[in-house]
Amino acid sequence: MSTTDELLKRNSDWADENQDIIAPLAKGQSPETLWIGCADSRVPPAVATQSDPGELFVLRNVANVFLPTDAGSLAVLQYAIDHLKVKNVVVCGHYSCGGVQAALEGKGDFGLIHPWLASIKDVHQRHEGELADLQGVDKLSRLCELNVKAQVERLAGSSIVQRAWNRGQPVSVIGWIHSLATGRLTDLGFRATSSEDVPPIFRLE
Ligand code: CO
Repeated sequence: MSTTDELLKRNSDWADENQDIIAPLAKGQSPETLWIGCADSRVPPAVATQSDPGELFVLRNVANVFLPTDAGSLAVLQYAIDHLKVKNVVVCGHYSCGGVQAALEGKGDFGLIHPWLASIKDVHQRHEGELADLQGVDKLSRLCELNVKAQVERLAGSSIVQRAWNRGQPVSVIGWIHSLATGRLTDLGFRATSSEDVPPIFRLE
């Protein structure tokens, strides 16, 4: 575990060693990917994908949730799509996610986080039949995957993504999952690349 002094020292060493990468960044950024991931300390997107600074625009929160009522998430998405013109929006969940587990257990008073977890409970309820056949870690793992799927669907249904598609701007919304045990990312096959992938009732036009 690192003290803050150690973090500053490591930063100083990193800055000294990487001026060739760092100096051009002062001129601006043009990342191709918006990454929406969990705040969990074990799933660092830039480290896991060996990305340099400037490659990923990142939103992280408890259980990699995109809520269209959350102003912070909307601001990140709008800036990424409308201004940075990212080509990909990757939702990356992870197995053994504590946020998903808390929603799955469905007990206790989580206080302020309750509405946040409630959005994952909705996912659970929507797939109750499938999840009822699973137990223990298998059930949690599947809910972690289905939670990613729900975020892909919400992002695809958002007005920000749909407006981009409607004006001809290519955006792919993609669902991945990170294994804490192996460090590997897996493409879950949840993908939205046009309004065709959005149920008609959620389409803007
Ligand atoms: Co998590």
